[in-house]
Amino acid sequence: MATISVHWPNGRKTIETVGTDWLRAAAAAGVIIPTGCMGGSCGACEIEVNGTMVRACISSVPSSKSSRLSVEFASDPYW
Ligand code: FES
Repeated sequence: MATISVHWPNGRKTIETVGTDWLRAAAAAGVIIPTGCMGGSCGACEIEVNGTMVRACISSVPSSKSSRLSVEFASDPYW
């Protein structure tokens, strides 16, 4: 399985297996991603992965050419 280095908003860096659920990976890194519907429709769980908006509840860690992903909380949250 491919692995990838992920940099989290709390300053931590973890090595994740490509295909791991974002919510599970974040929890393991000590990052709490807020959730609502858990079905991809409400947007509460949005994070930015290398600048691309992702709904964490329905997404998993992608492969990346650079082998490095940077996660930020969405800059325009709903709450
Ligand atoms: S929890 Fe609603 S879109 Fe992810």
